[in-house]
Amino acid sequence: MQQTVLISGGTGLVGTALKSALLANGHNVRVLSRQKTDTKKGIYQWDLSTGYIDKTAIIGISCIVHLAGAHVMDKPWSKNRRREILTSRVSGLELLKEAIKENPEKIHLISASGSNFYPSVNGAFFTEVDKPGESFISKVCIEWEKAANAFKSNEHHVSILRTGVVLSNKGGAYVRLRKIFSSGFGSSLGSGKQAFVWIHIQDLVSMYVGLIEGNIPPHTYNAVSPNKVSMDEFSKALAQRLGKWLLPINVPSFVLKLIIGKRANLLLHGGYLDSQKIQDVGFKFQFPDLPKALKNLV
Ligand SMILES: NC(=O)c1ccc[n+]([C@@H]2O[C@H](COP(=O)([O-])OP(=O)(O)OC[C@H]3O[C@@H](n4cnc5c(N)ncnc54)[C@H](OP(=O)(O)O)[C@@H]3O)[C@@H](O)[C@H]2O)c1
Repeated sequence: MQQTVLISGGTGLVGTALKSALLANGHNVRVLSRQKTDTKKGIYQWDLSTGYIDKTAIIGISCIVHLAGAHVMDKPWSKNRRREILTSRVSGLELLKEAIKENPEKIHLISASGSNFYPSVNGAFFTEVDKPGESFISKVCIEWEKAANAFKSNEHHVSILRTGVVLSNKGGAYVRLRKIFSSGFGSSLGSGKQAFVWIHIQDLVSMYVGLIEGNIPPHTYNAVSPNKVSMDEFSKALAQRLGKWLLPINVPSFVLKLIIGKRANLLLHGGYLDSQKIQDVGFKFQFPDLPKALKNLV
């Protein structure tokens, strides 16, 4: 059935790919953005600082995908930046919840969340029932998910995808890493034993489409590949795929901390995530293992 889907942050890496997939499946797509409304391009403006939202974006929608949020790694975590990382995700949901109050349709809200919801423990293995961590980013994920789950009180359906590093050749972490590794300066980080939790963008987009089209029941899922790889294994596989040397010494933790401050913790520590729950409801990964994913991306 054709649906009208509103994607907040639909101009970003995941949103752009999702928009194309939804249009290809015959759905109508609207994008909620900080840019000015331009209905010809399907762009509808909102402004989280003033609480403004172009309400025409809401008319007739059956699904909201919430992807908007200030980038976590792009800038140092000053007090202001930390506030922005949190409020850009939570205030967006609060604004949307208010805006759909008079909407007669039941809405399925699907919100992104991060794999850093879980504690940063090397060697651990987390399923969706495990408790969250206590880091700054874990706390952001907790508030983000709480704001998403608040939609349930209006009898709407809610789904959450706790997402690992999205591998895409259109941008994000993979493009940055490919540049470094291609120049021959690729190396692993810290102990190298921490998990590198990843998902190919096509699989992530298929999860969103599956939820929107009702092939995956609304719920909270880990959106990560079933292939468990450590930072050392990921670095080795990427260097091999690019035909480059991997530097024989990992970048020491203290050096990374000197360069990017507390953000380094996201790269230096972390456990694996279990993706069995989404597979149990019938989801099939197109890129279940890293070599296949890298072959497709390089
Ligand atoms: N990519 C990953 O590896 C990854 C991994 C785990 C979780 N996630 C989460 O999944 C979501 C989508 O990821 P993505 O990679 O597509 O993100 P992205 O490329 O950074 O795009 C996010 C969008 O959010 C909007 N945005 C940015 N800063 C904002 C702010 N301060 N206030 C309001 N809106 C803002 C922007 O849209 P406008 O400029 O049009 O407003 C931007 O296009 C994000 O919430 C991200 O944290 C991503």
